[in-house]
Amino acid sequence: MLRTHHCGELRAAHIGQKVNLCGWVSKVRDKGFVLWIDLRDRYGITQLVLNEEISNEASLKIARSLGREFVLSVKGEVIERESKNDKIPSGAVEIRVEDIEILNPSKLPPFTIENDTDGGEDLRMQYRYLDIRREPVKEKLILRHKVAQLVRNYLSNENFIEVETPVLIKSTPEGARDFIVPSRLNENQWYALPQSPQTFKQLLMVGGMDKYFQIVKCFRDEDLRADRQPEFTQIDCEMSFVEREDILTIFEGMTKHILKEARGLDMPKFDRMTYADAMNLYGSDKPDTRFGMSFNYITEVAQGKGFGIFDSAESVIAINVKDGNSYTRKEIDKLTDFVKSQQVGAKGLIYCRCNEDGSFKSSVDKFYDQDALDQWASICGAEANDIIFVLSGDKATTQSQMSELRLHIGEQRGLRNPDEYKALWVLDFPLLEYDEDSQRYHAMHHPFTAPLEQDLDKMESSPGEVRANAYDMVINGVEVGGGSIRIFDKDLQSKMFSLLGFSKEDAQAQFGFLMQAFEYGAPPHGGIALGFDRLCSLIGGTSSIRDYIAFPKNNSGRDVMIDAPSPLNAEQLKDLNIK
Ligand code: AMO
Repeated sequence: MLRTHHCGELRAAHIGQKVNLCGWVSKVRDKGFVLWIDLRDRYGITQLVLNEEISNEASLKIARSLGREFVLSVKGEVIERESKNDKIPSGAVEIRVEDIEILNPSKLPPFTIENDTDGGEDLRMQYRYLDIRREPVKEKLILRHKVAQLVRNYLSNENFIEVETPVLIKSTPEGARDFIVPSRLNENQWYALPQSPQTFKQLLMVGGMDKYFQIVKCFRDEDLRADRQPEFTQIDCEMSFVEREDILTIFEGMTKHILKEARGLDMPKFDRMTYADAMNLYGSDKPDTRFGMSFNYITEVAQGKGFGIFDSAESVIAINVKDGNSYTRKEIDKLTDFVKSQQVGAKGLIYCRCNEDGSFKSSVDKFYDQDALDQWASICGAEANDIIFVLSGDKATTQSQMSELRLHIGEQRGLRNPDEYKALWVLDFPLLEYDEDSQRYHAMHHPFTAPLEQDLDKMESSPGEVRANAYDMVINGVEVGGGSIRIFDKDLQSKMFSLLGFSKEDAQAQFGFLMQAFEYGAPPHGGIALGFDRLCSLIGGTSSIRDYIAFPKNNSGRDVMIDAPSPLNAEQLKDLNIK
């Protein structure tokens, strides 16, 4: 046995015991007559001590030759430490080293393996295996493991079965772009990597599995952001003979259970909001409801006063910032720059200060007298010392710009408290959205989502108004998961494909297998998938999901450590019939 204990294990109770430890050299302090080494492994750090009285000459010689990150095996006795270190759990003891062996030397690492490292992001990604030795990175991977265990146990207890679905599947035109894999055995034919196991989990329901889950890798070739990776993991689930309420109950329960076990948090019952309300109140289908500042529509009172910008707008939207009258002119200029930035795209920002004495001062005083501004204030519920910010334009664009401003101000004013968790189900999404570029409807969720029964009669007459039996789980403004009740009737599924612009032949070629399965007794079913990386990053309290992925890709979709993607050689290309 190379070791009897690990480096985070030894306490005062072990004093007097002979132990063997293995680990990496974190630090060496050589005072000449005595030498200390911090030995690190996944579990913690233990201090080793060597001196001329207790250690043999060979060991001392080895100790003096050590560099950072050398791998050691040491033998010695646990003794009480003279000056205790209460910052680490093993800080009451040290190991009086009798024998030391270098299992492997190490080159000097390109950055320090400490909590506060001097390594920049790119360097740490290139040497990710060294980064993983650092406590904050390692802890995140351990948290990820813990969350996965909690999910597996919770769902297994609820009678879910984990089933693996294939990774080499068929490319489908809906959704994001597929990652494509050439088939050597089938010339000029291609597999796609799954964007999600959607159709397979539905087929498992036809197969009678009743309750399925899988912690599964998904692949999407889309533009990357802090909360998006080209390969990411879902907690994917499907259930038979259920209605929306059954699914919301199980997955709200699971999420609360995980937050309780992994973070010690008691989450209240999740709020619920329709998509229409989310858009009207917050301009987003994933509102951060940790703070208010919801939208007020002042279109009617703002129009007809000679201010052309408002008069020609579809919507004039205002938010009230409590105690915001303390904003200086300079700060308002900065907010104006923010809304005019490329990211937001507004033309300008109108404000109205609510003064202590009950008067108002706006940036459009020329058009609006005190009575008119009082109307704004009363619609917005603004009081003395508040400030109202106003944007205008076409409704959807203004909503989205105001959403950006609201989040920006929320962030600035510390209203997005990272220790607070506010969860929300967003319900009744539109079934379809019209895409001007392709001049056709696209499924807002995916083509297998069932319309709300009460909107079925609008499928032909006004498809854009049909609501879907779809739901998203949103926590602190992050879309953690989404799902729906599915279509399980072949005719309704065909109608959906035709609304999406598929010809009968195309629908048959793409999804014939599913429609055929629906002819063999498909049960009513529905499900959800939670973004596992996003859930972990929310629980861990950071915004980048990369931190929770052992070997993530960078913003250009590259793994800089293994240098992928990379070209293939001519031989490989020939084998694959790729010119
Ligand atoms: P959807 O496309 O909404 O639904 O995905 C479910 C959840 O997966 C996460 N997610 C991502 N996480 C990281 N990087 C990405 N690129 C990425 N894309 C999505 C999000 C999202 O809410 N099959 C359906 C689910 C269903 O209907 O049951 C689906 O995949 O947290």
